[in-house]
Order: sequence, then C-alpha cells, then structure tokens
Amino acid sequence: MLICSTVKDLREALSSKALSPVGFVPTMGALHAGHISLVEKSVGENPVTVVSIFVNPAQFNDRNDLENYPRMTESDIKLLSGVLRTDDIVFIPPEKEIYPGNEPEVIFDFKTLDKVMEGAFRPGHFNGVVKVVSRLFDIVMPDVAYFGQKDLQQVTIIRELVRQQNRKTRIISCPVVREPDGLAMSSRNLLLDPEIRQHAGIIFKTLSAASELICSTDISEIKEFVREQINKTPGFSLEYFEIADDLELKPVTMKTEMVPGRRYFGCIAVRAGGIRLIDNTEFNCSVIKG
Ligand code: PAJ
Repeated sequence: MLICSTVKDLREALSSKALSPVGFVPTMGALHAGHISLVEKSVGENPVTVVSIFVNPAQFNDRNDLENYPRMTESDIKLLSGVLRTDDIVFIPPEKEIYPGNEPEVIFDFKTLDKVMEGAFRPGHFNGVVKVVSRLFDIVMPDVAYFGQKDLQQVTIIRELVRQQNRKTRIISCPVVREPDGLAMSSRNLLLDPEIRQHAGIIFKTLSAASELICSTDISEIKEFVREQINKTPGFSLEYFEIADDLELKPVTMKTEMVPGRRYFGCIAVRAGGIRLIDNTEFNCSVIKG
C-alpha cells in the first residue's frame, strides 16, 4: 500500500494506476475492527481502496473532545497493512491540505436532518462532517464510499449531501461491529475508565431489550425504561433516546406516527463517566409495518 500526505501525491497515484471503481473509507484514525470491516468490504468490491485518516477539527464542538481524541497513526498504518493491497492508498493529510485557508465558509442546509439527536446535542457537528466529507470526495473522487451504520444520522446526512451536490458517489452503509459484551466499537472506548468500561455493555443490552418491547409497549414507556436502565448504572447518564426512521430521521412519540414499510431505529447517546457514546439498533414490528 502507498501512504500519501498531499492531495497532489494522492491524485498522481490514483491517475497513474487508472483503476476503477475507486472505493473510499474516510476515518479519523484510532482504527478498530469496526473501521476494518468497512475497509475489508471496500477491498472486496473495488480494485483500489483509499482510506483517509484525518481528525477533523471542524466537526468537534467541544475543544476538550478534540484535544483528547486518540491519535495513533503508527499502529493504524500497521493495522491497515494487514488488509490493504499494493495498489491501495492510505491518505494522511496535514490540516493545511484539507483546509488551505482560502475556502469559503459553506453553511449546508439539511432541513430537519441535522437538527435532531446528534445535531441537537452537538451544534455545528454535522456542518463540520459534511464540510470535510465534501472536501475529501473532491480530492479522492470515489465511485463508492463506505460508512458505518453506527453513525446512522451521519450516513443519512451524507446521502443527502450526495443528492444535493449531484455527486456520482454511491454510499454504502455497513453493520455495527461490537465488542463481545455488545458495546459498539468506537475510538472513544479507549478513553473509558476501566470501571466504566466494565459496565458499558448496558447500552446495547438496554437497546436490545427496548427493541423487543416495540410491538407491545407505548413509546413513552419504552423511553422511560431506557432512561431508568441507563441512569441507574453508576457513572452513566442518558443524553437522549429516540426512535426514528433512517430516511427523515424524524423521532416518533407514538406508534401511530410510524410509516409502514420504513425502517426504524432506536438511537441512543449516553455519557459514560465523561465520555460520550452513541449507538443504535433496528426497532421492527411486523404489526406496525402492516
Ligand atoms: P470515525 O469515527 O473514525 O469513523 C469512520 C467510519 O467508521 C464511520 O463511517 C463510522 O460510522 C464507522 N464506524 C465507527 N465505528 C464503527 C463500528 N463499531 N462498526 C461499524 N462502523 C463503524 O465517522 C467519522 O470518523 C467522521 O465523522 C468522518 C466520516 C471520517 C468525517 O470526519
């Protein structure tokens, strides 16, 4: 695999190979099996894959979170070298390659998509995500890009970005990869206290239990159940829990609002000893689907 740090080198490498389709996996590094599942999928489906590693300051609404975000480029490269082939590329740009300083400040309009859930609790976050993804798409010009279902709202917003910008890139959403106790893999898990980590399986355990209630129980009761389970775990507090579809991301308060045929997901954000974790799982009921 080739490692590039400038846009020029990356473009030259891609043009000289002239391979297509180009698969792309954007990441912020501190790679784990969740990231690798995306890379493996791209490698399996495309003759060339580009993996980017860039901790994007524009999407951090909290300075501390940006400063503490784990950075481990050497071990990331080692991990990638076990998956990527000779023609694949790791793109690790310094900040000035992504943001040269002369770019106009673009404010995207995603209507309600970026106002709920993560968007409500992390103002400006999605504007920063689409700013970097749009820039990375301009640089890599991928035919296919792979994102994790773990960040469900992010995938929906990126699909909308592609639609608004008339891009040809196909967006593929990949399943959540979990630890043996169900905790969704995340670079932020590295920041958890051992004591907190030991109990973090409660997040997915609660989501799974709640998903089984969907056919029989009112949404307000399901929400109460989730709040109770999380808040009674020492060191954990619920930020939000919503049930929303993956197209409009519209949180529902009653089952009668659920549109038949749509896929619904229970989406959760939890503060676990000062670290913010998110997860989601599908909430299906054949009765609701009609
Ligand atoms: P990052 O958090 O590094 O995640 C990179 C990709 O890996 C995202 O598409 C994310 O959804 C996926 N991913 C993370 N954990 C996963 C898991 N447990 N299972 C499956 N996929 C998982 O998401 C970002 O970076 C950034 O916002 C980015 C898109 C790179 C823009 O800066």
